[in-house]
Amino acid sequence: MLIKNYTILPIFLLVLSWPTSASENVILARITNMQKADSDMTKIRKSTSNSNYQQAREAAESIKNWANIMLDYFPKGSGASINNQSTASSQIWENLELFKYFIENKQKGANHMLFAAENENKQALIKAFNATREACNACHEEFRN
Ligand code: HEC
Repeated sequence: MLIKNYTILPIFLLVLSWPTSASENVILARITNMQKADSDMTKIRKSTSNSNYQQAREAAESIKNWANIMLDYFPKGSGASINNQSTASSQIWENLELFKYFIENKQKGANHMLFAAENENKQALIKAFNATREACNACHEEFRN
């Protein structure tokens, strides 16, 4: 009987903690990707002053790729809570259309940055960089606690 209880308890705890750790992983992954996007934006800003278009191209591509998949990293119920380190507002799932709209703006910004970097067009790159920066900030203002 004693042995039986020892076997059941860990399984019981595992089952209890399983959903939490799954959403915890997705939260950690999106935070890591957001931080990467931030350092990519810094790279692009620097690229405009030293005309390193190769670096700008790679960074814009990385932001674009993340923008294309980021929605999947915000499953319902993965907002900020006392059990995780997320700062994502629960408003995301109340107003998903607006969240998607901000994602689209970010995608457009990234596409424009990529195009400008490929064409080595500094003015266009600066313009696209500023538009992308605004897309990042607009979403954060609305959906980050
Ligand atoms: C559509 C909305 C949206 C867009 C667009 C967006 N973000 Fe975020 N970002 C979020 C949300 C929501 C969080 C909070 C995620 C969490 O803590 O779970 C976040 C978090 C962050 C963080 C904090 C990560 C940490 O250390 O906790 C950084 C940095 C960041 N974003 C950078 C960017 C950059 C740079 C861009 C633009 C290239 C961008 N984001 C575009 C929604 C967005």
